[in-house]
Amino acid sequence: ASTLGAAAAEKGRYFGTAVAANHLGESQYVSTLNTEFNSVTPENEMKWDALEPTRNSFNYTSADRIVSHAQSRGMKVRGHTLVWHSQLPSWVSGLSATDLRSAMNNHITQVMTHYKGKIHSWDVVNEAFQDGSSGARRSSPFQDKLGNGFIEEAFRTARAADPNAKLCYNDYNTDGVNAKSNAVYSMVKDFKARGVPIDCVGFQSHFNSASPVPSDFQANLQRFADLGVDVQITELDIEGSGTSQANSYSNVVKACLAVSRCTGITVWGITDKYSWRSSGTPLLFDGNYNKKPAYTAVLTAL
Ligand code: XIL
Repeated sequence: ASTLGAAAAEKGRYFGTAVAANHLGESQYVSTLNTEFNSVTPENEMKWDALEPTRNSFNYTSADRIVSHAQSRGMKVRGHTLVWHSQLPSWVSGLSATDLRSAMNNHITQVMTHYKGKIHSWDVVNEAFQDGSSGARRSSPFQDKLGNGFIEEAFRTARAADPNAKLCYNDYNTDGVNAKSNAVYSMVKDFKARGVPIDCVGFQSHFNSASPVPSDFQANLQRFADLGVDVQITELDIEGSGTSQANSYSNVVKACLAVSRCTGITVWGITDKYSWRSSGTPLLFDGNYNKKPAYTAVLTAL
């Protein structure tokens, strides 16, 4: 196949990208998106501050633009993200525990109901664990006021809201075997043992020279898959350029393809010019939408 999406589809996977609604008027952005990708993740438009800036008042305009674009082109949509400490409106952090619990469950229910049937996978909870060796939960309004049970509660609420969506836990620095991924692994294992609904684990996979593609990336994906969940590479970008960047991308694709439950890969943007790594060049297309060596490496590996 001659495009990322078609090549991934031949392997039974999707190949997606993060999309920003405010670039959907740019013809090269849209033509690259439409040609190469068969899944999208709204980069910011489905975050809590975008969808529910004031309590129980929802604004779906920008997220809906992305979803309708995707649907009209037959692309899948990943929902990102329902419960996260970041890009959280200040009204949420000010709530009492009782109010926060009902606000969290209401947010999940309202948003998932609005998009019911249109989202293949939801990142129900994002980045709930700390970096470093402790394996502890990260401090957040949810963790601090509701305790460890907030993740389980969010997943149960999500299952009830849209029983057909795959429910994912998503995080970064969990790509290799380390204390943080061990902590997520223990949580998923416990959820599966107790029947808490979870279907997938997302590995953000933001890599750079300080945090390169781990040598045990495939083994780590496989151990999660062996728990009975799908795994997905959800926000892939790799700092660098040329052959070394291309080789790293190739290794990520090969790792996913070697794990039968690795169902798809999403890169965190189309072109270097709009990467969230503002001064970097971590994506597959340069600022002029030229295919980089990393693009060719991915297409070859698929
Ligand atoms: C980033 C977006 O790319 C930026 O535009 C925004 O300013 C901040 O968030 N982990 C995640 C993503 O789960 O939502 C983040 O996206 C990148 C890190």
